[in-house]
Parts: sequence; structure tokens; C-alpha cells
Amino acid sequence: MGAEVVIEGLTKSFGRQTIWRDVTLTLPPGEVSVMLGPSGTGKSVFLKSMIGLLKPDRGKCMINGVDIVRCSEHKLYETRKLFGVLFQDGALFGSMNLYDNVAFPLREHTKKSETEIRRIVFEKLEMTGLAGAEKKLPGEISGGMRKRAGLARALVLDPEIILVDEPDSGLDPVRTTYISQLFLDVNAQSDATFLIVTHNINLARTVPDNLGMLFRKELVMFGPREVLLTSEEPVVKQFLNGRMDGPIGMSEEKDSATIAAERAMFEAGHHAGGVEEVTGIPEQMQPAPGMPERMGARRRKDRVMKILHNLPPEAQEGIIDSLTPEEQAHYGVHPRHAAPPRNQTVQTGPVAQRHRGQLPSDQVAQIPDGSWPRTEGSTERLRNPGPGGA
Ligand SMILES: Nc1ncnc2c1ncn2[C@@H]1O[C@H](COP(=O)(O)OP(=O)(O)OP(=O)(O)O)[C@@H](O)[C@H]1O
Ligand SMILES: [Mg+2]
Repeated sequence: MGAEVVIEGLTKSFGRQTIWRDVTLTLPPGEVSVMLGPSGTGKSVFLKSMIGLLKPDRGKCMINGVDIVRCSEHKLYETRKLFGVLFQDGALFGSMNLYDNVAFPLREHTKKSETEIRRIVFEKLEMTGLAGAEKKLPGEISGGMRKRAGLARALVLDPEIILVDEPDSGLDPVRTTYISQLFLDVNAQSDATFLIVTHNINLARTVPDNLGMLFRKELVMFGPREVLLTSEEPVVKQFLNGRMDGPIGMSEEKDSATIAAERAMFEAGHHAGGVEEVTGIPEQMQPAPGMPERMGARRRKDRVMKILHNLPPEAQEGIIDSLTPEEQAHYGVHPRHAAPPRNQTVQTGPVAQRHRGQLPSDQVAQIPDGSWPRTEGSTERLRNPGPGGA
């Protein structure tokens, strides 16, 4: 099973510039999570902080009982071996062929024989669809192949945690979907914990179990995919629809005057871009036929059903709808639009206790202090009730 990553109150600045503060979230073991956020919100800095390449100012990042932020160099070196990282550009060595690139971490971090290394390298090249390309140099292959080679290299140490920075950059939509499929297949085979940082709305909508979003130096939300995909929070909604209409601007600071002026423009009929209000929860992609079942997805069902009553109603509905009739019976829930089973006159189970609850405090952080008009109640629903929060 992949490792759990527990992040508490993580804060990072460079000099006087705070990048993000008080980020608190848990990456559940073996689940796939995506972190969204406009450019420059510190997503890459977040990944680098998780592997100890950057030192946060405050907070914790716990992996198997080790706090990456404060541990010794030796512990950090050991804990880093749990990670496989796919950098934005693949970060391959240009003068080495794919075989040597993929073999590199094994030669660097293990004492394995060349025969053993060969077996592992060919296995990972096969897994990422690169069998036969081992003699090619990175400069001789396409961007999509470079990404896959980067992934093959990230996998050779059998990581428990896989971090991916912008897997879609430089890839066409079809190749992006192929690499998304590969992530889910790798997750099914390895049960590793995934965190993928991306701008890609399609990927965010269809791949992960959990979604999070960084904006204006805060973690706006982090939770089950159904929560963000049905959220009315303006910044989340705007991002997932790729529109100009909302708090996110061309630069980080979109002030209230700009928002009002743009609002008037859109109300007068100017196209706000993006897709027209895509709402609802699309079906999640699954591992390819022949792959094992995703254990992370199975554990997630139990996990999410335990917190169901704390989730917003729309997310509850989405989660219940995603269950098979057998699972609905097992958890004692049924979809709102369906009649209750004949022998069940009084509705029981978490839906009966539905209320406009808050997400668990470890899954939500503060909404950024924006000037965007909010509907009443939305702030309360999402604001972090924890110490030092609201
Ligand atoms: N080593 C560094 N020293 C100083 N500032 C840095 C450093 N690395 C990143 N930054 C700053 O941190 C901020 C966040 O950068 P980061 O690369 O994490 O953004 P991002 O969300 O990944 O953006 P993008 O979506 O464009 O990749 C930027 O303002 C950047 O200039
Ligand atoms: Mg980045």
C-alpha cells in the first residue's frame, strides 16, 4: 500500500514573499489526488517542499512517521527513496539513452547487479509503452515519449508516493488522456499514492479521487472529487470551467473594480470563454481492462462513506450515485431520485442526516480573502473551523 502523506499548517515563503500558508491536507494511501491552481500559485514549490528540495518555514509533512520538514539529512535521504517524481519536462539526461536514463536511480541508490537492473528497466519501459526505444536519446523522441520515459524512471525504485508536475504540458489532448490512463494503470498495479499538479480541466474532472486547489496563497479546498466538482465556490467553479468571469485574473490580483467592470461586460453578452458552465460529476476513468482493481479506490469508498454526512448535499448525491446498487445497499443509502426499497419506509443512513455540514477540518483550509461576492453560507460551509482559522 502507498504511504499516507499528512501535511499540517505548511507555510512557505521566499524572503518576504509568502507563497502559501497554513496548507493542511492528507493524501490518503493509494488514492490519486490532483492539485489545481492558477500559474504562480506555488504548485511546483509545494511538490518540491514535499520531497524536501525546498524547506518550508512552518508546519509538518509527515510520511511514515518522519517529518520531512524537520528530519535529519540522513532520514530525508532515506524517505526520499519512497518518492518517484515526474518533473514537468521529464528531466531526462540529454546525453544518455532511455535505458541509461531509466537505470540511473537504480545505479545511484541501490547495489543491484546489472542483470537485475536490466530486468527492472525493461519491465518499466514495457509498462510505459517504450519497449524497443531503449537506445534512443531524449532528443530523438517526441514529448509524449519523453514524459513516459520520465515516468518509467520515476517508477524504478517502486515508489510508494508518485508526484507528477504538469503531465500535460506540451502534450496534445489525446496524449494527455493516454498518460492519464497510464497513471491509473500504474496506480492499480502499484497502489502508490499519487499527487498530480495540473492546469488540465479534463484530467482534473476525470482522473483523481480527490481534488484540491491553491489560490491567493491558500489551499482553497481539498476533498473528494465530488465536492469540488459540484462546488459553488466562485474560484473553484471558474477554474473548472476555464472562464474569465470570476476572481481569477490574468495576474494574481484581480481587484473588485476589475471584477465589476468585467461582470458588466459579460452581462452585456461578451463571451467569458471556456466551456459553458460544465457542472456535475463526470464518470471517473478506470484502469484499463486486465489491470487489477485499484485498492485505493476500494479503500476510498469506505473512507468517503464515513465522512459522507459532513459533505455538501450535492457531493453526497454524486457519491451515492457512483455506487453500485449492491454498494448502496451495503452502506444503507439510496439515490435521492430513486424510490426507497419497498421494505424500507423510513430512510436511514447518512443521507437522512444530511445537512449543510463542513468538510472535515483536515480537508479544507481558508477561502482566500477575496473581494468576489459570495452567496450567503458558502463561506461558512468551507471556512476552516480549526484553530487559528475563521
Ligand atoms: N527558488 C525560488 N526562489 C524564489 N522564488 C521562487 C523560487 N521558486 C519559485 N519561486 C516563486 O514562487 C512562486 C510560485 O512558483 P511555482 O513555480 O511553484 O508556481 P506554479 O503554481 O507551479 O506555477 P505554474 O502553474 O506556472 O507552473 C512564483 O512566484 C515563483 O517566482
Ligand atoms: Mg509549476
